[in-house]
Amino acid sequence: MKISIVGAGHVGLVTGACFAESGHQVLCVDNDMEKLAPLQKGKIPFYEPGLERLVRKHLKTGRLSFSPSIQEGVRKSGVVFIAVGTPSRPSGEADLSYVEVVSREIAHAMTTYRLIVEKSTVPVETGEWVRRTIRHSLRRKIPFDVASNPEFLREGQAVKDFLQPDRVVIGVESKKAEKILLEVYRPLKTPIVVTDIKSAEIIKHASNSFLSMKISFINAIATLSEKVGADVVKIAEGVGMDKRIGKSFLNAGVGFGGSCFGKDLAAFINIASKAGVDFQLLKEVQRINQHQREGVVRKIEQAVWNLRGKTIGILGLSFKPDTDDLRDAPAIDIIRALQKEGVKVKATDPAAMENAKKFLTGVTFCANAYEVARGVDCLVILTEWRVFKQLHLRKLKSLMAHPVLVDGRNLFDPERMRRLGFRYFSMGRPAISS
Ligand code: UDX
Ligand code: UDX
Repeated sequence: MKISIVGAGHVGLVTGACFAESGHQVLCVDNDMEKLAPLQKGKIPFYEPGLERLVRKHLKTGRLSFSPSIQEGVRKSGVVFIAVGTPSRPSGEADLSYVEVVSREIAHAMTTYRLIVEKSTVPVETGEWVRRTIRHSLRRKIPFDVASNPEFLREGQAVKDFLQPDRVVIGVESKKAEKILLEVYRPLKTPIVVTDIKSAEIIKHASNSFLSMKISFINAIATLSEKVGADVVKIAEGVGMDKRIGKSFLNAGVGFGGSCFGKDLAAFINIASKAGVDFQLLKEVQRINQHQREGVVRKIEQAVWNLRGKTIGILGLSFKPDTDDLRDAPAIDIIRALQKEGVKVKATDPAAMENAKKFLTGVTFCANAYEVARGVDCLVILTEWRVFKQLHLRKLKSLMAHPVLVDGRNLFDPERMRRLGFRYFSMGRPAISS
């Protein structure tokens, strides 16, 4: 099939490359020439395992190409996906102005039937706005359909998530649109949920909110566990083995970050509120998540007594491993809070350091964990990168001024840390002092 995708960002590019891999003919459109020129040579502007290989492969097979022109995209394809960004406004509401502009330009370029599919994460009823905008912008009466097809891609695993999804969701309002989208996704051989547009739009926000809720739930249990001397890791194991609950997304820690959960949660609360529903449950999910970040700072204080004048080493900056993404990363908030309290911060991250230099001032960036450890009063793990799990702990300890480790991701066994002579503080497990 001939498909074009407007917006070659994280979502649009993964979608484009994976559709090409599925055998379709894909044109990715983006109005940012600085992004487009390297893409045309197979260079990806962000970190996403496997994506560059796919893009290069299909630039060669000729199934993937790039263009700055929406007009060209609409002319060359029967299906046009909208994957432009939908940034948050301060109120939490999504800014849909790019979606509107792109809808209008698509309409201007149309001469015969097209299916326009919203891929960006948008509030319920955006489909209706897109349809209205296109109808009013068409130069003459041309048939078209609008559909919703939310993405569920995790950074770092986006290619796999796209090609082997748990499900695909399509929201349509005509048999014709349904047939086209079933054909687009047929090569993936995956279960497909077909529904109306509004339900499809809500499925995306409901899924991300539910996952955030699982994380905040286990973090609330972690807080309780600490108070009564129980172990949240074991609790999560025991709870998660119930298939109705499931064991994923029950890792207690410094809380969730990234470009989606916080943003989508705020957007969903806002959507509900506009519809007259006070979604207090989700407000509590937000509150608990914020509390986790503040809680880590208090835990560090508890570990070193007074913060002022101390040197603290941070291991991990990105919001999760295998990405250089710092959007809403807990590490940024935590480092700034520590600096405010008079702490000197050293830090390292396997991928996010260059990015971090743009956001953080006064931090000494180091090449690896051992360099960070040299002379610090306390080490703090904020991202569960594999290299941190494999650290030579004896060597690490020998470099530190004081063997104090605050583990925000529960990477190590507390008993082993005690034997090694660390004062070890983790999340939702009893503190261990040697
Ligand atoms: C996506 C989704 O679109 C968003 O709704 C979701 O919540 C998060 O993921 P993402 O792909 O990460 O966004 O955004 P970004 O990397 O900013 O990509 C958007 C692309 O659209 C950019 O390359 C930008 O240049 C392009 N764009 C934007 C256009 O081509 N035209 C526009 O008018 C606006
Ligand atoms: C998420 C959704 O998983 C994906 O479906 C959606 O399309 C975009 O948002 P992403 O933000 O890339 O993906 O990362 P994810 O792996 O879901 O992790 C999000 C955050 O939750 C990270 O900060 C992670 O550290 C945290 N997390 C995750 C926990 O704290 N505990 C867990 O058990 C799982």
